[in-house]
Amino acid sequence: MKALVLAGGTGVRLRPFSHSMPKQLFPVANKPVLGHVLDNIAAAGITEVGIVVGDWEEDIRAVLGNGSRHGLRIEYIRQDQPLGLAHCVRIARDFLGSSDFVMYLGDNILPDGIRPVAEQFRAERPAAQLVMYKVPDPRAFGVVELHPDGSVAALVEKPQDPRSNLALIGVYFFTSRIHEAVDAIAPSARGELEITDAVQWLLASGADVRASEYEGYWKDTGRIEDLLECNRRLLAGLAGRVAGAVDEESVLVGPVVVEEGARVVRSRIEGPAIIGSGTTVEDCRIGAHSAIGRDCVLRRSGIDHSITLDGATVTDVPNLHGSLIGRSAVVGAEPGNTGHRLIIGDDARVEVAA
Ligand code: TTP
Repeated sequence: MKALVLAGGTGVRLRPFSHSMPKQLFPVANKPVLGHVLDNIAAAGITEVGIVVGDWEEDIRAVLGNGSRHGLRIEYIRQDQPLGLAHCVRIARDFLGSSDFVMYLGDNILPDGIRPVAEQFRAERPAAQLVMYKVPDPRAFGVVELHPDGSVAALVEKPQDPRSNLALIGVYFFTSRIHEAVDAIAPSARGELEITDAVQWLLASGADVRASEYEGYWKDTGRIEDLLECNRRLLAGLAGRVAGAVDEESVLVGPVVVEEGARVVRSRIEGPAIIGSGTTVEDCRIGAHSAIGRDCVLRRSGIDHSITLDGATVTDVPNLHGSLIGRSAVVGAEPGNTGHRLIIGDDARVEVAA
């Protein structure tokens, strides 16, 4: 079985970060989302991976390389425009050949992995094996409608009036029968070749399409709030490790990772939290569920439930909560300032204390 990872797209919902990086490289618990994806693929016993990439191809290649770090062989497949998930299958035809494969959306996080469902697919090989998850509001997802006996009745993409609360997770298993389906469908009203239409085509042609409910935790990291929630969830399983320097006046409580070359001085860190390599934390209070990237500088500040990307600086800000601070961003208090002074880029969002 091969894997097809989709890492193109536009990432409009993740602005401003997606102006300067692909959303699939956003760090969650200090590891890019695609790193979590590839770990799950490797753990499912798959070694050949095709990654569909768009304009961020070079950035993604620079981070993942040829895949050897994950024990994988990666081939990159260029998609010039994000024309839909089924379009990705079309352009990956040469890579996929006649193999069975898992199609894995590169912005989905499943900390509990995909092994059981991959094994079930390997054993039974239906034309399509879908994975579903109950969500309170399925209108933003592909929705699965089931017959009373649990078999798949229909798939509907982002329905206004959903007839079930079962959303499709971004992990789909297919045999090579899917190629006929993606060739047969036409673009939807929003101009994309929808994978739900391709699977619906399989259903209509009498193919064996199955769907099982996912038992673990799942999150599509399309929005900022989802990233913070995933970060919290992934940090919850953290094992503490101190490789950097922590002085005697500092206190670490609960699972805390201090990576190589990081320095913690006169600070209190409440885990689960990670301090990235090369980062300096001085006179700070770092609260639970914080992931601080590499080469950051935090002084006389307090932060919790937040993600700080590489190279950021935070100085004299006592109470940051639920924040995402971008690469090399500078957040600070300036003596003499009587009001807030903001120098922020396009589509940024600032929420000050009310
Ligand atoms: P989406 O999150 O549905 O689309 P998007 O990336 O355009 O995001 P937004 O709605 O915020 O603009 O895509 C799911 C995954 O599939 C994501 O990793 C991007 C990838 N993708 C492609 O690789 N090619 C495509 O044509 C599309 C539509 C998505």
